[in-house]
Amino acid sequence: MLKYAHIIGWGSYLPDRILTNQELAKTVDTNDEWIRARTGIHQRHIAASNETTATIAFEAAARALDVAQINPSEIGLIIVATSTPEYVFPSTACRVQDYLGARRAGAFDLSAACTGFVYALSMAANAIATESVNSVLVIGTETMSRVLDWQDRSTCILFGDGAGAIVLRGSSVPGGVMSSILRSDGSGGDLLRLPTVYNTAIPVLKGSYVNGHHESNTIEMDGRQVFRFATKVVANVIADAVTKAGLTMDDIDLIIPHQANSRIIESAAKKLKISTDRFYMNIAQVGNTSAASIPLALCDAVAERQLKPDNNVVFVGFGGGLTWGASVVKWDVTPPDMEERGSEWRRTRYVAARARSKLRQWQRKTSARLAGSPTPEARLKDADKQGTIAAGDNKERNQSIKKD
Ligand code: ACO
Repeated sequence: MLKYAHIIGWGSYLPDRILTNQELAKTVDTNDEWIRARTGIHQRHIAASNETTATIAFEAAARALDVAQINPSEIGLIIVATSTPEYVFPSTACRVQDYLGARRAGAFDLSAACTGFVYALSMAANAIATESVNSVLVIGTETMSRVLDWQDRSTCILFGDGAGAIVLRGSSVPGGVMSSILRSDGSGGDLLRLPTVYNTAIPVLKGSYVNGHHESNTIEMDGRQVFRFATKVVANVIADAVTKAGLTMDDIDLIIPHQANSRIIESAAKKLKISTDRFYMNIAQVGNTSAASIPLALCDAVAERQLKPDNNVVFVGFGGGLTWGASVVKWDVTPPDMEERGSEWRRTRYVAARARSKLRQWQRKTSARLAGSPTPEARLKDADKQGTIAAGDNKERNQSIKKD
């Protein structure tokens, strides 16, 4: 029997540090009036140096589990949508799995830029519908501040950091995720991108020297073209997802869009012939948080009671890839009365999970030492040595290529 994927928990996390437009204007040639008028953004949050994409994802996830009132061991799958992982691997999802002590969960990251949350929601709903799992944690999390060129006024004013999470659970009761539409157009990949590997002939990663230049990984964007693309696809994909759910626009109570630019939303509302009031916006406070923007906005909409039980809500995302997509969800949950005791108990479990994780690492090291294998540290030192030799080779190769 097919199961319906209902959202039963939600949680968000924003770093404490707020960066206002006025502050930005002190370091780059811009001003508050321009940013507000052209984007709708007033401020953004910036992660502290001890926060990572994974740690803020954990905070959002822990809050979502509190609302869902389920334990980490009940989660069967963790999907993290992000463009700013700490590592290519291990995935951010695996780090969150470890922080939570979600010992029965599969975990993977999903790359679909700002559409990542809609893609992840759709994957999660499918996994539940086919009964491969019953509870899925979906997280959108970003530390965009780490991949911005803070001298580039066309991009650094747009983005912010944050994380949002939801818990989906299978049930035979109709409702929950009712439809999803996912789309992509790789021919527009160059319009918005974040490189990791600069040159296929000489692959190098962040912080490396290439041909005498220090390369870093920062967002590259053709703002006007991305704007044009977004205004073309958003209204259509919303309409298609609503039709696929067997509904009409009149049945939709709220649309929660990816928060990229308030003018994109105004254009979509005009095309759909609906009021902008039916779109939820929190871009003024948080900026564009990429894959985190929809779950962050969802949590704010719930907190402001803009979503009521039995409302139909549309999530719509668009961004790098190019990718875009929309999902229609019946919001059929009433938030449970939060039991403080349950939440505290879960927090204790997370501390225990970290202790267990450390113990497992120690056990691995000890058994490796007893078996006479090199320790992970020794292996890393050896790899570092090899890397230095390879980097030297690369330098020679670069120089000979330059000479040619
Ligand atoms: N402050 C002041 N002036 C600026 C700034 C700034 N921060 N940035 C650009 N300008 C200037 C430009 O230099 C230009 O000046 P000129 O006319 O003298 O040449 C003028 O303002 C207009 O520039 P445009 O680029 O045409 O400005 P536009 O109105 O298109 O706004 C923006 C730029 C905000 C980037 C807009 O194009 C946009 O929002 N695009 C979509 C971006 C987006 O959504 N990206 C994320 C997608 S999601 C993801 O996957 C990550």
